[in-house]
Amino acid sequence: MSDPQFLPFCRPTLEAEEIATVVESLQSGWITTGPKVLRFEEMWRERLKVPHAVALNSATAGLHVAMAGLDIGPGDEVITTSMTWPSTVNMTEVLGAKIVFADVLPGTLLIDPVDVARKLTPRTKAVVPVHYAGAPADLDALSRLVTGSGAVLIEDAAHAAGTQYKGRETGSEQHTAIFSFHPIKNITTGEGGVVTTRDDKLAERMKRMRWHGVGKDSWARYGKSATPRYEVVEPGWKYNMLDLQAGLGCEQMKKLERFNAARTTLAAHYDRLLAEVAEVQPLARPDYDHLHAWHLYVVQLDLEALAIDRDAFIGEMGKRGIGTGLHFTPVHLHAFYREKYGFKLGDLPVTEAAGECILSLPLYPLLTPEDLKRVVAAIKDVVHTHKACRVA
Ligand SMILES: Cc1ncc(COP(=O)(O)O)c(C=O)c1O
Repeated sequence: MSDPQFLPFCRPTLEAEEIATVVESLQSGWITTGPKVLRFEEMWRERLKVPHAVALNSATAGLHVAMAGLDIGPGDEVITTSMTWPSTVNMTEVLGAKIVFADVLPGTLLIDPVDVARKLTPRTKAVVPVHYAGAPADLDALSRLVTGSGAVLIEDAAHAAGTQYKGRETGSEQHTAIFSFHPIKNITTGEGGVVTTRDDKLAERMKRMRWHGVGKDSWARYGKSATPRYEVVEPGWKYNMLDLQAGLGCEQMKKLERFNAARTTLAAHYDRLLAEVAEVQPLARPDYDHLHAWHLYVVQLDLEALAIDRDAFIGEMGKRGIGTGLHFTPVHLHAFYREKYGFKLGDLPVTEAAGECILSLPLYPLLTPEDLKRVVAAIKDVVHTHKACRVA
């Protein structure tokens, strides 16, 4: 049984429409990839005014088919950030390309274009910025770097449904972008992802690769105007999204603006409440024009002012009934990457320092202002109880 007093770190907003669409799919007897997936893809195309949106069962699958579809593989290098979920990096690795990390900018924790410039080589095939927490990476600066270099920009937009960079919505630009619909994301399909692109050839390949490398999915094989024959054009995976998931996604898409507005209001409320807590400060916002999707509200602890570390701080919040998150522990310091590449502390100083002091506070539309006050009261109590003794 869950503790009714415990405030979870995240909770999706699932309303009558989401329940109705899943029930409808169940009753229809068609639960796998079908018309709702087609509609979900159409909604993304319409929203971003792009010719292609390819729905998948996760953003990780999206990263995989996007990179594979661009022929990223042995001999290639991919530059990304270590301040990310492992998928961004793992998908490069499983394709046999070399991972190269650029550091992030202090304050925003977005990839640092100056460090990307230092790490570009003739072997760089892609640069993959993460729109961390829902704030956009500096796309103009990154685009300038890759233009003419032979590399492409692939946006990891897992956090960025509804984010805008200089008035342009994430995924609507020239670059391929990957969104996630995991339950903690701004909109959810249970699990799921979509890749948006203007690249016709890539879109066709990704559609094939998400379904065994066969040119047709189940709907095309068993639907009304279907033909049952199939042929593997190149080996692929089984990454298709279900109609059960896409129905949820279609309903959630209609609510994205409302959800993001609620997140924005809550983030502003946190800003005000935390202004009094010097030891726990929110991330900085990018100084260019942008619209933040507020996927995460990440704070940095002033560890010198505290007698406990970040992990103990998270434990103390839990004891006070507040769930928190950790986004992220730097990928380059995970066992596999340390051992394979010899990465070590000191390689990415800004990422590493942040990796020790960040935590994410609950942020979702179902939170009330009273919930936020509870979170900040717990923060103040932990800070007060665990202040570092300073020797004068
Ligand atoms: C930055 C980033 N990229 C990619 C992913 C992978 O998304 P999914 O869980 O849909 O595979 C995540 C998941 O949280 C993420 O945070």
